[in-house]
Amino acid sequence: MSDGYVDLHCHYLPGIDDGVRTLDEGLAVLRGLGALGFSTVVATPHIRTAMFDNRKAGLERAYGELVAIAGGLPGVPATGLGAEHYLDDVFWELFLAGEAVPYPGGKAALVELHYEVWPRRIEERFFEMQIRGVRPVLAHPERYAALFGSTDPLDPALEVGVCGLLDVMSLVGRYGHKSQRAAERMLDEGVYYAACTDAHRPGDVELVARAIERLRALVGAEETEELLAENPRRILAGTVEL
Ligand SMILES: [Fe+2]
Repeated sequence: MSDGYVDLHCHYLPGIDDGVRTLDEGLAVLRGLGALGFSTVVATPHIRTAMFDNRKAGLERAYGELVAIAGGLPGVPATGLGAEHYLDDVFWELFLAGEAVPYPGGKAALVELHYEVWPRRIEERFFEMQIRGVRPVLAHPERYAALFGSTDPLDPALEVGVCGLLDVMSLVGRYGHKSQRAAERMLDEGVYYAACTDAHRPGDVELVARAIERLRALVGAEETEELLAENPRRILAGTVEL
């Protein structure tokens, strides 16, 4: 790999969602992913009403505290701040008010949906994001029940330019057999524009290593490089071509 992998989904900011609990754990995740070949790891803490009521200012503060300690430490990849936005009406108000937390550069933002209920006409919201200059990156399509058997419900979203982001650990059963099978099918179908770790704790790093090996076995070295290195960079740069 030339410039290293870029992780667009990771929970290493301590104590603010269901990710790492301490700074040491956060550093362990960063160093572990660095050792696997990640040169950049973007923090994407949850913003999800009634579960993780984080807001932009608090996330920026937490990120600043981490960077003040972690920045430049040996073995720690470059970092950045985004958020994993749960796509509901609260998100929409935050987004319109400029209070969402897109990826560095502001060209794209990570969103997740309800796991059990597929939102009606969600592609309209995705389209609205696009015309406001922010490309939606959909977290773990393989983990939504509505997509276990078929990708059809996602097609309208893909048509308006949503980037599917694979959780690599889905490929080694981290989220169960249904998600694993859906991930393998979606890889075949070309649903994914990029892949990520979605690591939540230091113990995930070993599974991520196995998952990347599995990804390579399934799609080959070249496509693995596209999914983990080249295309995440295109998302950040705003140069996605679908
Ligand atoms: Fe996540």
